[in-house]
Order: sequence, then C-alpha cells, then structure tokens
Amino acid sequence: MHEKLKTISSIDEIHSLIKVLKKEGKTIGFVPTMGYLHEGHLSLVRESKKNNDLTFVSIFVNPKQFAPAEDLSTYPRDLDKDIKLLSELETDYLFYPDTKDFYPNDFQTYVSVNEITKILEGEFRPTHFRGVTTVVAMLFNCVSPNNAYFGQKDAQQAAVIKQIVRDLKFDIKINICPIVRENDGLAMSSRNVFLNDKERLDALVLSRSLKLAEEIINEGEKETEKILNEMKKLINSVESSQLDYVSIVEAERFKITDKIENDKSYYILIACKIGKTRLIDNKLISF
Ligand code: PAJ
Repeated sequence: MHEKLKTISSIDEIHSLIKVLKKEGKTIGFVPTMGYLHEGHLSLVRESKKNNDLTFVSIFVNPKQFAPAEDLSTYPRDLDKDIKLLSELETDYLFYPDTKDFYPNDFQTYVSVNEITKILEGEFRPTHFRGVTTVVAMLFNCVSPNNAYFGQKDAQQAAVIKQIVRDLKFDIKINICPIVRENDGLAMSSRNVFLNDKERLDALVLSRSLKLAEEIINEGEKETEKILNEMKKLINSVESSQLDYVSIVEAERFKITDKIENDKSYYILIACKIGKTRLIDNKLISF
C-alpha cells in the first residue's frame, strides 16, 4: 500500500514543509499543471519520480494567462479524477493553491519576458505569457524544486520558462519532455475534450501537416516559405480549420527562420482552430 497523496493549499504550509524537506536533504521534482490530467501530464510526473526523492504536482487554472474572450470559465476540470490518477502514480504532494491567496486584491507584481513572447502564441495571445511567467515564478517560489518538468507540446512556453530561469537566476533545472500523442497522432491536450467526432478527425490535420513538412525537408527543401505553403494547403483543405500560424524557428533561440541550415535543430510549429477549439502542435527536427 502506498501513502495517500497529500494535498496542500496554504502558502504558509508549503513554505514550512519545503524548509523541512530541504533540511532532510530531499531533492524535489515539480510538475506545474492546470489539471484535467492526461497521459501527457502523467509522463512528466513519471519523469520527475525517476529523478527526484519527492514529486510535487500543482493544479491551478491560472486566470491571468487567459484573455477575457478565452475559455477560462469552460476550461475542463475534474479534481477527483486528477487526485486518483496522481495517487495511482504515487505522487508525493499535490499543491492546489486558492485563487484568492495567489491573487489577492492588492496583487500588483508581474514577471514578463520581452522578446520571445512577441511572436507566434504571443502574437495571437498577447497577455498569455505574462500570466504564465508570473504564475510559474510564484509556483517556483512556493515549491523551490531542484527540477521542474515541462512538455515540448508547449515548446514556446518551455523556451519562455527557460528564459526567466536564466534571467532571474532561479536555481532550478528545467527539463523538457517529449509530446505524448493519441494512437492516431493527435497531441494530447485537456482541450481535446471539446472536439466533436467530426472535429476529432479533422484535428489530425495538425500532426499530418507537421509530418508533411518533415517529409519535404527530408527530400531536401531548405526554404521555409515553400515548406510552410505546403502545410497551409493541407490545413486549408479541412473545412473546420482556421489557421492562426505555421512557422519554423531555431530551437535554441526560438527565432523565426527563413532557411533551414545543416547542424541545427528547429521547431516546426502550428496553431489552428478546429471549429471553436484552438489547438497547438509542433515537431522538433535535427540534422
Ligand atoms: P497545462 O496545459 O495543464 O500543461 C501542463 C504541462 O503539461 C505543460 O508543461 C505542458 O507542456 C505539458 N503537456 C500538455 N500536454 C502534453 C502532451 N501531450 N505531451 C507532453 N506534455 C504535455 O501548461 C500549462 O498547463 C500552464 O501554462 C502552466 C505551465 C501550468 C502555468 O499555468
């Protein structure tokens, strides 16, 4: 029998617990999430458990990373199921902060990253990353992990987090884990639950377009415009799709590129609405 998952909501309580655990010399792995957990999240928990004495998972649907017109109020939640899944994995602690503790009325401090937040997701969701970096800095200050785990699914988010860790001198190692997909290729996401049967099939166009891009690159095409045009054609052939962007960036600096060079790694990225549901996906390619 494993011990039951311990849930902590109070900020004072987590601060004193972390002090005790650090004194005992325990290493801490941390997986921040917004809940409605799926295999993508759980893969991060498994990775943390492999490499740390204790694993903390946070669940907090962070209002500051949703714009007023976005889906904060309908964002899917199922705390009981999440607790069950985390218990099955023998996660040590769930940090479940209260919105009014995290954002009291006089809250007025933000963490924002200037450059890599302007493109792609940042262009279509201008206030999103400021919300993410602010809450992640707060979560890091509560949990003080040695290791934190993020998914490549949100590749730009991971790059932005790495930037705040470098710039603000957090003593935390950021680990990026591979995208977990459904059998047919759709990247797992809490938002997939919004897709109806037809849209669920249409949504395969995201992973298919990434595969197509990889094939074109492997055939020798180096100009990103030509690669992206082929992706766009495929995406636009699906009636329910509405493309926000396709792009290729240098993986290291997250900088948009117009030519693919040898000996470098790139992310091919896509954000696309299927019906009303906005989905993102990407593929890392290395030479
Ligand atoms: P959320 O969307 O719940 O995702 C939590 C973590 O799970 C992120 O690091 C995300 O990249 C990862 N993840 C999601 N789907 C995945 C998949 N299919 N494969 C691998 N990893 C996957 O991202 C957030 O929450 C929030 O922005 C957060 C960082 C918690 C700040 O509020």
